Amino acid sequence: MRAEWRDILRSTPMRLTLRLVALFVLISLLTFAATWWLANKTLLDAAESTLDVELDELSASGNAAGIIAAVNMLSAKAEPEDMILRYESANGIVGNYREALPGNGLREFDPTDRSDDLSDRYIVKSRDVPGGVLTVGQSADAFDELREVFGQVLSYTLLPTVLLVLAAGMISARRSARRLAAIEDTLDRLRDGDLSARLPGMPGPADDLSRVGTGIDRLAEAQQASTEALRQVSADIAHDLKTPIQRLSVQLAEARDELPNGASTVALDRAEAEVAGIVSTFQSLLSIAQIEGGSPRARFAPVDLSALAATMAEVYEPAAEESGHNLRIDIGRKAKVMGDRALLGQIIANLIENALRHTPAGSDVALTVDGSRLTVADSGPGIPVDEREKVLRRLYRLDRSRSTPGSGLGLSLVDAVVKLHGGTLELQDNAPGLRVEINLAET
Ligand SMILES: Nc1ncnc2c1ncn2[C@@H]1O[C@H](COP(=O)(O)OP(=O)(O)OP(=O)(O)O)[C@@H](O)[C@H]1O
Ligand SMILES: [Mg+2]
Repeated sequence: MRAEWRDILRSTPMRLTLRLVALFVLISLLTFAATWWLANKTLLDAAESTLDVELDELSASGNAAGIIAAVNMLSAKAEPEDMILRYESANGIVGNYREALPGNGLREFDPTDRSDDLSDRYIVKSRDVPGGVLTVGQSADAFDELREVFGQVLSYTLLPTVLLVLAAGMISARRSARRLAAIEDTLDRLRDGDLSARLPGMPGPADDLSRVGTGIDRLAEAQQASTEALRQVSADIAHDLKTPIQRLSVQLAEARDELPNGASTVALDRAEAEVAGIVSTFQSLLSIAQIEGGSPRARFAPVDLSALAATMAEVYEPAAEESGHNLRIDIGRKAKVMGDRALLGQIIANLIENALRHTPAGSDVALTVDGSRLTVADSGPGIPVDEREKVLRRLYRLDRSRSTPGSGLGLSLVDAVVKLHGGTLELQDNAPGLRVEINLAET
């Protein structure tokens, strides 16, 4: 789950969203700052002109006594919460605010000794007038309100917009993550050889990802068609050559009959053995093609794997004895698998034959069935890791097996049959020797 979210955060739509959100927030904040500065300045200008008017009126008399009288009169009327007045002259301080009031000119002032009838902050202006310094201040509530309004605008517009855009980005990122996962899945299946793999239908409108998906589907289709064509050609060749080769073996038999009594048949024997090898190779090629075509699946029925293995072990017992191998069978849990009995018997036969043929006399060969798992292990030379995939190819044989009989089709057939049954095939190291493990599906 966490990995999924990390993927989403790293996805292109999410990155784009985050970048857009950052840009949007930056632009919004700049606009807000500019507006804030302008509004603040306008308010401040307005406050200054009001204060100037007050200062003009209060100092109109032009002498200290007149200013004191005017200040006292206005102080009596004005609420200190709205307006503060202070006149400092040689005769002392008059007005409704007599504490210290530092600074000069236009400024903000925050009364430290805050009594109930004072505002939080004031905009004050001091001016040198006849006899002393006159200061008039008005409450800065308007500024605080402005600040509040700005704060509200910010939280009511910016925050929801950011959240909405983020949510939208997340949704589209999740959607494209799902599409990507489907594409990756299909690519994996294609890589594993399932050329019939296609992308599942993608809900929603077409986008660049679905175009990539369509491209992959087309590629897979072309690949499947050409593989199919190749398969068809090899099957056709095998099929078309079968009859002439069978005729050849008949002709060889006739030639043998026509030989004068006592003549040597060595050359004929060799030719006949060769033809028999060719016939069996073609037969194997044809059956692999047929199995890969998937047609025999209709014949599937429950097969008792352990009974089948026991039969095969019995069949090969004499051959193993003759070649000096110790063939052993181990039956664990009994289970039935859905499959083609003849083909499953064929793969057990191929694996036992390989173990007998490709390991020296005296080697152990163990056939084990446990549930739907079948293993054939021997103590021979084994197959090097980098060759294990290759020996599954048609006609591929290890260099050291060139002199042993066989055509390199046995393991291809095993592989094809296992795939037909939806099982898995693994060639492992038996240290020493080869261990072939096949896992099928239980009924
Ligand atoms: N048990 C084994 N131990 C060592 N090498 C093996 C074993 N089984 C198979 N091999 C190697 O893998 C190659 C391919 O095996 P595969 O069964 O496909 O062909 P083959 O046995 O040579 O011929 P055939 O078509 O008659 O089976 C063999 O030629 C051999 O080199
Ligand atoms: Mg073989």
